[in-house]
Amino acid sequence: MSAPIFDPAGLEPRTATDEQRAEAPLARTPDGTWVVLGHQEAKAVASDHGSFSSAVSRFLQVPNGLDGAEHTAFREVTDPFFGPERMEALEPVVRGIAAELVSELLDDVGAAGTEIDAVAALGAVFAVRAQTAWLGWPAALEPELLQWMIDNHEASRSRELARTAEVAEQFDAMIRSVVAPRRALGADAPEDVTTELMRVRVPLPDPEIPGSRERVLEDEEIVSILRNWTGGDLGSIALCVGVLLTALTRAPELAERLRSGSFAEASAIVDELLRIDDPFVSNRRVATCPVTLAGQEIGEGEQVLIHWTSANRDERVFAEPDGMDPHGNAPQNLVYGIGKHICPGRPLATLELVVAVQELLSVADVRPAETPGEREIAPVGGWAHAPVVLVPRR
Ligand code: HEM
Repeated sequence: MSAPIFDPAGLEPRTATDEQRAEAPLARTPDGTWVVLGHQEAKAVASDHGSFSSAVSRFLQVPNGLDGAEHTAFREVTDPFFGPERMEALEPVVRGIAAELVSELLDDVGAAGTEIDAVAALGAVFAVRAQTAWLGWPAALEPELLQWMIDNHEASRSRELARTAEVAEQFDAMIRSVVAPRRALGADAPEDVTTELMRVRVPLPDPEIPGSRERVLEDEEIVSILRNWTGGDLGSIALCVGVLLTALTRAPELAERLRSGSFAEASAIVDELLRIDDPFVSNRRVATCPVTLAGQEIGEGEQVLIHWTSANRDERVFAEPDGMDPHGNAPQNLVYGIGKHICPGRPLATLELVVAVQELLSVADVRPAETPGEREIAPVGGWAHAPVVLVPRR
């Protein structure tokens, strides 16, 4: 039996895949891309690095577009940027940013509270401030980055390649504007994450030096890594904040658990809410050889989309996809992926999300708004607009 035809483009990812997954765990778009909807199948594809390559783009993407030893070498030198000691040192900085933003939002707000869009007013602004502080970028970049997030979002919704390329170029220009002055300053460059990244030596031979075992990063590689650390993830953090706050309006008892629980308890709740409504929808692969998956023959060179949002709600693994079971479901949670390409930024994302929610809840209750929310459409998920009412706690 051939795979059902299903094109997720332009659809609300969660509803569309809930319906489609009931028919089969693997579907195919009209132009032949395989869409992996099942949990077991998503795990199988993401963990089989030999049969499925991540080299899906014609642009350099470090490390996400790399395979094999080259990918491992880059992960080895970039993963430590998200190590526990670094995250511990960053926590007070991120907490300060969240507290300040929350107090800006609650400034002069009366007992009835104020309605905000959790994605734009809290998520996006917080993401930009937290990421720029982490990377050591000037705060003056904030308006440019916020505008870029809007342009990037519109470009990816339009699915016009020229528009997407233009937005990508704008972003690269912004990154070059922080890299170039550091290059010029050399040893006098500010000691921050960006400068440290520029000094990294990757364990790969330098083609210019015979017998060498490591080399410095090329500018294009630095730009690509920084693009990965910011470009996609600012949007993801903003969307995650929308998902989390909307969920809290519907389950106030969770707010109490987040307020009083430990960091570990709070991160388990955050992960589980994101599993239920995963806004980081999908990643691509290309088959390097013929592979059988869910009874279908995937041919060499064929495109494959791993649909995390769908896999995270697969009834065969999560008997009640909408049920909250933070600890029980954690081992099967695929919000941050699986396999060699598993998200290296997870500790930072978790830190930012837990801290943002905790700081907000320490001074406000989050209640439902009268304005209805608007769901996102693929390629992203969650809420495009997530209106919530913040009521100051006296
Ligand atoms: C906001 C929540 C986030 C979610 C839900 C998320 C999710 C994911 C997922 C599912 C992957 C796997 C991609 C694949 O298998 O092809 C991934 C990869 C990646 N993520 Fe995240 N991510 C988040 C935040 C971040 C942050 C904050 C950073 C860095 C600052 C980051 C950096 C990366 C990088 C560099 C990769 C590529 C890894 C590789 O290919 O080896 N992510 N992310």
